Amino acid sequence: MKTRLIKISSPADSAELTEVAEILRAGGTVGIPTETVYGLAANALDGSAVKKIFAAKGRPQDNPLIVHISCFDEIKALVTEIPDKAVKLADAFWPGPLTIILPKSSIIPDEVSCGLPSVAVRMPSHTIANAIIRATGLPLAAPSANTSGKPSPTTAQHVMHDMDGKIDAVVDGGESAVGVESTVITLCTPVPRLLRPGGITLAQLRSVIGEVDADPAVFAELDEGERPASPGMKYKHYSPEADVIIIKGALDKFIAYVSEHSCVGSTVLCFDGEEKNFSGIVFTYGEPGDADEQAHRLFDVLRKIDASGMRRVYARCPETKGVGMAVYNRLLRAAAFKVVDLN
Ligand code: TXA
Ligand code: MG
Repeated sequence: MKTRLIKISSPADSAELTEVAEILRAGGTVGIPTETVYGLAANALDGSAVKKIFAAKGRPQDNPLIVHISCFDEIKALVTEIPDKAVKLADAFWPGPLTIILPKSSIIPDEVSCGLPSVAVRMPSHTIANAIIRATGLPLAAPSANTSGKPSPTTAQHVMHDMDGKIDAVVDGGESAVGVESTVITLCTPVPRLLRPGGITLAQLRSVIGEVDADPAVFAELDEGERPASPGMKYKHYSPEADVIIIKGALDKFIAYVSEHSCVGSTVLCFDGEEKNFSGIVFTYGEPGDADEQAHRLFDVLRKIDASGMRRVYARCPETKGVGMAVYNRLLRAAAFKVVDLN
């Protein structure tokens, strides 16, 4: 299959939008930009179109997809109830990087929900994503547009790297601003539960709807056979080819650890300004404490580490508050939960 690369710079690019909408309405698959990461979109109401997403990504069959809408009214057909808390969350954070899980209606095919009684819904704020959904006139199922298990794509080039020849088209709408996937909250539990941290923080969610629990899978590895609330949480995710090891502790301890353990093929992932402490190839992902910048750069730097051929990465540990919770959650999965604590 030839994968077309279609540049769309604004919602006024109507010829290109029409072309993309036609592919999607015909049951095709298209990589689309969103403010979080690039998504791999197909018509959410067409089970056989959705199956193509799973095939292109090599995605496990039990990992459900998020359905993307362009205005609040579109959620009504997708779910069986819209609790007050969903309205409050949507008012506060939509369009934006928040996914809300609600009981699904019968129009959601099993290919999207993977046998669960619920559906995950999100309204992206990216103007091109929004324009594509509107032009298509359909809700779009879209997981991150990476090969399953690889870091999520934050540019059209990342999507091309993973998906060239496997999908119909990729829309180039520039770099994703947030850089990590949306915050996922379920309203199907007695107390709303954070399943995946992202650009909308736990504190922001609590300020709007009060009590919110954080799922244990956010920071801990699940035991063999344990069933996560969000199927995606059980997979080793976001992994570069290299072995990532997170090192907790102050910079001086990190430097000493690296000098003791560095070997052929090992490299360092540190914060901006810390490179001078290390020799050889060194990678950075933002200033210490700047979680927004770290989120924006994390997946790109993981891909660059892979391209460099390095086999082991000693990574500085981010702060875990606010958006840092999302950065740490993704880095933990990239590291397959390998953490050395020097504190
Ligand atoms: O920012 C994002 O959310 C991006 C962009 C493209 O919108 N999408 C994304 O999709 O990250 P994906 O498929 O890579 O991650 C969706 C996560 C998975 O962990 C999946 O298991 C979970 O959401 N999920 C989807 N539907 C669910 C449901 N009904 N119940 C529980 N978890 C669900
Ligand atoms: Mg994903």
